[in-house]
Amino acid sequence: SYRSLLNTGDFKGKEGEVAFFYPDNKEEERLLLLGLGKQVECKAENLRRAYASVVKACKKKKLTQLSFLLPVAGGVGPIVEGVLLTNYTFDQLKRDSLKEHPTVVIDKLYLIGVKEKEKPELDRIQTIVEATHFGKDLVNGNADEVTPQYLAEQAEYLAKTYAAIKTTVFDKKRIEKEKMGLLLAVNRGSFRDPSFILVEYKGNPLDKNVTALVGKGITYDTGGLNLKPTGSMETMKDDMAGAAVVLATIKAAAELKLKINLVGAIASTENSIDARSYKPGDVYISHAGKSVEISNTDAEGRLVLADAISYVQKHFSLARLIDIATLTGGIVVALGEEATGLFSNDDKLAEELEKAGQKTYERVWRMPLFPEYREALKSTIADIKNSADRKASGINGAIFLKEFIKDVPWAHLDIAGTAFISSPKHYQTTSATGVGIRLLIEFLTQVS
Ligand code: BES
Ligand code: MN
Ligand code: ZN
Repeated sequence: SYRSLLNTGDFKGKEGEVAFFYPDNKEEERLLLLGLGKQVECKAENLRRAYASVVKACKKKKLTQLSFLLPVAGGVGPIVEGVLLTNYTFDQLKRDSLKEHPTVVIDKLYLIGVKEKEKPELDRIQTIVEATHFGKDLVNGNADEVTPQYLAEQAEYLAKTYAAIKTTVFDKKRIEKEKMGLLLAVNRGSFRDPSFILVEYKGNPLDKNVTALVGKGITYDTGGLNLKPTGSMETMKDDMAGAAVVLATIKAAAELKLKINLVGAIASTENSIDARSYKPGDVYISHAGKSVEISNTDAEGRLVLADAISYVQKHFSLARLIDIATLTGGIVVALGEEATGLFSNDDKLAEELEKAGQKTYERVWRMPLFPEYREALKSTIADIKNSADRKASGINGAIFLKEFIKDVPWAHLDIAGTAFISSPKHYQTTSATGVGIRLLIEFLTQVS
């Protein structure tokens, strides 16, 4: 019985510790004891993680239906969140290995003793988790499938599904007409056309202001002529994770009927290598009219984002602008996989994002935008160059973007370290994490 588990000391109750036991003469044939650690230290994130280990243990036994006796500590929200997040698999690309380890998903969850008034919150969590799974699928998918055209189709699909969403896709011709010279420059080496995607969600028709979410949509980053070496390129299908966050966040906002207006803008292309590739040392003119010396073709994200940022500022009345991008290796060096880099010209906006980060545990860490950093991006033949040396490279990316920001509260989220992790952990079961989606939904809920 569970008493022997405790008396023998075989079960210590550490956070995430699990033990199956099989009581005689009981209605339940199999029970699982879950450790939650010290009660005073048991916060939302501890519950998410502890219940992730329940899901993993049950999947190993191919169990698909679970009943929970809820613990006294903490709310039921994080428990359900931890379970649903852990219930994500990406097995589409497996073949033989699926015979040995078939996909098991938990398909029924019974919560014993959940209160009626807690139900709306659980529905809300389910909606948000489904959106993060949609986002993770886009990032985990092959770069040769998840192309600029594919992202555009997904955006069009959102418009078909939700009456409050309107999608506009610019093809290459239209992008040329709009003079998005930087997006076109990055696209030069690619066999595929670029796409520029606008997804508008109208959740508050009485408000004329819009929140812009701008996503980096590099569907594969080879580095271009400044080619990435082996060891640096293999994960670069994740370079559209910012775009995935934008699509998934707007999907969740529409599903939740958030009372806010959003415009998602995605600048998408591969950064490939080819005889036609854009060249280090050449100068290109941005949508904003600013000229940019390409000092490194691998600093392509800031280029496509600059054109997108400039476009939404020109065509929409913005309450705030948040861009989200796998922008720099520098932020990975600084913060690892634990925190997203946050840069902002507005303390209030930064604090709201920090708060949302604590609530969701998609933590953000604010970095400086001291004017002195601008020096490093001085060009002798153009208005600005797109990269400097290794020093403060995460900050330089943000400083470059800032040059294209007019008078609007702005935040830049560098998810290069958090979007795609090297090995699964806690409730993150695959490389793609969906980080940014729960964060932004929490933020948008707070400000709407
Ligand atoms: N997509 C990369 C950044 C990246 C690195 C994302 C690691 C995810 C994990 C970006 O386009 C890039 O190549 N940045 C360069 C900029 C440099 C050339 C100024 C970098 O950070 O090395
Ligand atoms: Mn790059
Ligand atoms: Zn990139």
